[in-house]
Amino acid sequence: MSQGFNVAVAGATGAVGVEMIKTLEKRNFPVRNLKLLASKRSAGKTAKFCGTDVTIEEMTPESFKGVDFALFSAGSDISKEYRKAVVDAGALMIDNSSAFRMEDDVPLVVPEVNPEDAKLHHGVIANPNCTTIIMLVAVAPLHRAKKLVRLVASTYQAASGAGAKGMAELELQTRQLLNGEAIQPSAFAHQIGFNLIPHIDSFQDNDYTKEEMKMVKESRKILHAPELMVSCTSVRVPILRAHSESLNMEFAEEVTPDEVRAILRSAAGVTVADDPANKLYPMPKDATEQYNVLAGRIRQDISRSDNRGIEMFVSGDQVLKGAALNAVQIAELFI
Ligand code: A2P
Repeated sequence: MSQGFNVAVAGATGAVGVEMIKTLEKRNFPVRNLKLLASKRSAGKTAKFCGTDVTIEEMTPESFKGVDFALFSAGSDISKEYRKAVVDAGALMIDNSSAFRMEDDVPLVVPEVNPEDAKLHHGVIANPNCTTIIMLVAVAPLHRAKKLVRLVASTYQAASGAGAKGMAELELQTRQLLNGEAIQPSAFAHQIGFNLIPHIDSFQDNDYTKEEMKMVKESRKILHAPELMVSCTSVRVPILRAHSESLNMEFAEEVTPDEVRAILRSAAGVTVADDPANKLYPMPKDATEQYNVLAGRIRQDISRSDNRGIEMFVSGDQVLKGAALNAVQIAELFI
């Protein structure tokens, strides 16, 4: 038997699951055996991994026997349903859903930011919210250098955040609208083609959405900064798979745009794309299928006189760094 680990991908037919399989292959993850799990509907279909066809199996509690890493992206309910079976089987569950992220004994990990937290797991490690991951890859190095005290984010989130059905709906509606046909929203609350929807996940008692509060709570947990002030407006945009974010940051000390660029140039997982004279700045088109988060439009916040404010724009591939890649990188911390 070849060396390596037994890996299961739960939700293998989904937008993120498909990228998990590709990412394992691209990064030469030492896979001994790959198990692809989805619902009964997909059982018997196949997916390619390293040139071979792997048959997709219906996920059951018995699926995890002998599995080392179980990468989950089949939604919160499925993660909750299978947690015990996965942990009892001795597998490490790396869960892309929001089911366990805020539990005290579940590390919430961005490998470039808080890899040491991963070791504290009790069988489950949570992959953070995609927008939070993309933001923190760029913000954490600045926080380490200059101590972030307040952050205001406005997001431009791609259809892929709603899974394969979200992407399909954007493509379908775009065609229908161009053809003058009627559209029928299903994955989103409203028309997504040629529109913006300032509503992602459910509304909370404080009038923020759950998605916006994920940015607040998860950032504090990942940065170990319970006092960090965060506010966010999350907006769904008609883009297929890369999220962008406008970030206004306030630091404890003075900071210049040049310092920010220098810090980010030596940070893991970030590419500085910041040359306005040559029309270079982060765009979702350029972040698509890239591992790194693009950071640019870096400038001093002119609304304050103390030189402690920075404006920045970031774009990152939601399906990769926001989900599949981050999950595979978490597994890599253990090999
Ligand atoms: P299936 O394609 O068989 O429905 P996305 O977030 O892109 O919509 O993907 C969701 C993933 O979760 C898919 O792979 C889907 O499989 C899987 N899934 C949905 N329901 C179940 C279930 N009851 N058991 C296992 N996997 C499921």
